[in-house]
Amino acid sequence: MQLKIALLGGDGIGPEIVAESVKCLQAVAETFNHTFIFSKGIMGAIAIEKHGTPLPKETLDLCANSDVTLSGTIGTLEYDNNPDAKIRPEQGLLQLRKELGLFANVRPVKMFPEIIKHSPLGKDLVRGTDFEIYRELTGGIYYGEKKVSEDGTSASDLCLYTEKEISRIAHRAFKAAKRRRKKLTLVDKANVLETSRLWRRVVKTISTSYPDVTLECLYIDNAAVQLLLNPTSFDVLLTDNMFGDILSDQGSVIIGSTGLLPSASIGEYHCMFEPVHGSYPQAKGKNIANPVASILSTALLLEHFGLKEESKAVIASVRKSFKKKILTPDILGSSKYGTDYVGDFIADHITDIDDDMNMNDENIGLGKSTII
Ligand code: IPM
Ligand code: MG
Repeated sequence: MQLKIALLGGDGIGPEIVAESVKCLQAVAETFNHTFIFSKGIMGAIAIEKHGTPLPKETLDLCANSDVTLSGTIGTLEYDNNPDAKIRPEQGLLQLRKELGLFANVRPVKMFPEIIKHSPLGKDLVRGTDFEIYRELTGGIYYGEKKVSEDGTSASDLCLYTEKEISRIAHRAFKAAKRRRKKLTLVDKANVLETSRLWRRVVKTISTSYPDVTLECLYIDNAAVQLLLNPTSFDVLLTDNMFGDILSDQGSVIIGSTGLLPSASIGEYHCMFEPVHGSYPQAKGKNIANPVASILSTALLLEHFGLKEESKAVIASVRKSFKKKILTPDILGSSKYGTDYVGDFIADHITDIDDDMNMNDENIGLGKSTII
């Protein structure tokens, strides 16, 4: 297969982790005989610096004309510390999602047994955790009209949803639940918010077309608690833009680190893959960032294009790195392995999918991920 892949490193640790993903995709291309053509674009604070806008037209055109976009992370300390900035890096990402129509953001949360002891929650609690968050990505409070009063003493953000916006992602979530364990949890705040009540009405109506899927509705505050107390009880969670943002970060920590969670943003005509975590500006250039969320995003990318074996090979190689404790310090505080070493290890082992983890521990200890 030939794929044109747009690469947006972004800010903070973004370029470092995307570089490791590219190594893995190159290994996949070589092993499975594909042609991946990479083109780089800029978005975020780096784009504001160079072009005065977080999403230059060339970047948007590049993504629109590529088969897929692989994005890094957006945001810097400078902007985090300056809430008054009129032009913000995040606006680039939000505009890109909107322009490409990426309404369905899928965030799979799966506990890998190899690193279960690194979860901050008890082993028995998290064992077998495997759920997917379907986060609506192009509507709601993120995109509603924003206002600040003239004297600056009051502000508002409009949260607006239409039936159409809810129903298109709801269908995707129900289909996913149908393929999986047939349970869908709608997370909202229907005891307070009108938009949430609309979500409930639309989702309940749609549920009649999926009789084999059980629909459960949870308020966001309760869902946040249940996710920590009983993560294995969830299968597919469906929620709006804001609640999905918060719940997915919570999900990432259940499985051991925010550095682990990938995501797929899917629309009618375009798709983009990006880690769930932020730009971790404190770690920029230190070679300590965890590249796994970005690398697992490439596994989602490959699966999206029907390259199932290739996707499995990437995941198997990531699991090998876990098994061999080739971990970045966010998971294993004492680890001596950096971003590039972990990325190299995973890319190197994509070629030996049937090798059954038959690696030479001595060489790994020496920093050479050689296979015997
Ligand atoms: C995410 C991020 C973004 C979001 C930020 C960077 C705008 O937190 O993808 O979860 O809030 O959607
Ligand atoms: Mg987020």
